[in-house]
Amino acid sequence: MAIERLVEPTLAEDNSEEAKIEISLRPTSFKEYIGQEHLKNNLKLAIDAVKKRNDGSTLDHILLYGPPGLGKTTLAGVVAHELGASIRVTSGPAIERAGDLASILTNLKDGDVLFIDEIHRLKRAVEEVLYSAMEDYKLDIVIGKGPAARSMRLDLPKFTVIGATTRTGSLAGPLRDRFGIIHRLEYYKEPEIEQIINRTAKILKTRIEPRATALLAGRSRLTPRIANRLFKRVRDYADVNGDGIIDQEIARQSLELMEIDYLGLDPADRNMLRLMYDNYGDKPVGLTTIAALTGDEATTIEDYYEPYLLQLGLLVRTPRGRVVTEKGRKHLQNPKNNV
Ligand code: ADE
Repeated sequence: MAIERLVEPTLAEDNSEEAKIEISLRPTSFKEYIGQEHLKNNLKLAIDAVKKRNDGSTLDHILLYGPPGLGKTTLAGVVAHELGASIRVTSGPAIERAGDLASILTNLKDGDVLFIDEIHRLKRAVEEVLYSAMEDYKLDIVIGKGPAARSMRLDLPKFTVIGATTRTGSLAGPLRDRFGIIHRLEYYKEPEIEQIINRTAKILKTRIEPRATALLAGRSRLTPRIANRLFKRVRDYADVNGDGIIDQEIARQSLELMEIDYLGLDPADRNMLRLMYDNYGDKPVGLTTIAALTGDEATTIEDYYEPYLLQLGLLVRTPRGRVVTEKGRKHLQNPKNNV
């Protein structure tokens, strides 16, 4: 059984209290959106150009990629807001048949944004419909079956697709080629995570002391979604065990209870590193072997565990598999990290 993880940067379940808070914390404009400066500047320019031209042309399709939890969905919302457009949110796995996509596309209006999360998981048949829709705003549909089948071309409104993926590698070439703007979201800098935590505290009307903010920021894996999630748990702890104010000691105790170490690793990360190291030492281990060791899906390891461990240099990828580095070994052997 895979361990349930507090630091997993997946979105909360729809309609849960958690999801509602997550949405209330989302910035809606570039001004409110902290970090990703380079990306923001590029997107602002593209939006300003479309607005200035004012000739009915639309924003190029945008592909955002990078580890989960860094704000791809949020940014899509910001782009739509800055364009003064509506956004329709869907995801690769949610669009099961070409007909589902056809119904989404025909309900869009000129200038609308269509956000497709996990776009690398679109089915081939759906992807093919999307090609011509993106390229010349036409919908090719086949009506009927066998000799009586007819194909029809419908005009679509001029819309902008914002696709999000954790991996560009898994995106089919022809689909990738249809995006005029392709950007990677980077991990945030720690001071940016601090700003995000302070912003969240303000929205949720909670007092947090600067040293507590710094402590939380250091353990948030440079990921806003995790920072906000930890913040909420620490806030619960402060409400139950203190007077609701988050000071350094409350933050420390709460993180200890959650077993999150000073690098932001949780028991599942340490468990994976330990299993790899104990069984294979400094030799490479294949992804499927790691998945068998931890009981997780290979894609979970690739998308959720690995990017941050690679970023920290605790793990490296080689052509023959993943290897625990010297730094990774030291981290495991430091008793301070066995919280
Ligand atoms: N909440 C989550 N991500 C954020 C960001 N980049 N800026 C401000 N608030 C956020």
